[in-house]
Amino acid sequence: VTQNIYDNAGFFAGYAQLRRSVDGLDGAPEWPTLKSMLPDVRSKRVVDLGCGFGWFCRWAREAGAASVLGLDVSANMLTRARETTADPAITYWQADLETVELPAASFDLAYSSLTLHYLVNLAALFGAVHRALAPGGRFVFSAEHPLYTEPGPDYLDEGPRTTDWLAKGVVKQHRTLAGYLNLLIDAGFAVRRVEEWGPTRDEIAAHPEWKIDHRRPSFLLVSATR
Ligand SMILES: C[S@@+](CC[C@H](N)C(=O)[O-])C[C@H]1O[C@@H](n2cnc3c(N)ncnc32)[C@H](O)[C@@H]1O
Repeated sequence: VTQNIYDNAGFFAGYAQLRRSVDGLDGAPEWPTLKSMLPDVRSKRVVDLGCGFGWFCRWAREAGAASVLGLDVSANMLTRARETTADPAITYWQADLETVELPAASFDLAYSSLTLHYLVNLAALFGAVHRALAPGGRFVFSAEHPLYTEPGPDYLDEGPRTTDWLAKGVVKQHRTLAGYLNLLIDAGFAVRRVEEWGPTRDEIAAHPEWKIDHRRPSFLLVSATR
């Protein structure tokens, strides 16, 4: 059973004030890189795993996707997503990605932004995503970088990490880089591109607070093909 921390009132209030919550994709520094790893979404059937406020769902439709299904376990996040979406081709479902089953071969693109590091049973989800994609379909995701989920001495020990980020006792799952990639490979995906997002020198000059992300990237970005 997932912790569903986004339905914790204090956590949600803090999360809703983050720049990426207020400004959406434009407020996410890794978005230009993640976007460059996406296929052309025109006419594609898209599923967004952990869609949050639905920023990507709306972007995908504006970029020409045929339909978008946004999945999230948090009622708080889905309420905001529905309030800010007026598009009959975007559907939101409340679902726990630990156990979700999706209709077979019904999507061309599966996308997930900063959600997979919450999941215990990532192997099951990767299997479900593989089955849900049509042949040649793409899976593009970001997750907190392994050096971010485990900044200390225990990098090789995969498993839960408890942090006090926006609320006390937030549980995330640490995996090594090899752990993520091998789960994808074991599920049958072909890995196409991997990025460890960190700011450029120019971005650090503009945002000195991002300097730590140059030493220890905060985001892992992966593009794979079914
Ligand atoms: C950091 S937010 C990212 C939201 C959105 N993808 C974005 O990038 O703006 C993580 C999201 O994952 C969702 N989430 C976490 N665990 C989940 C689970 N087991 N099943 C479904 N959604 C989950 C949370 O409710 C939250 O909306």
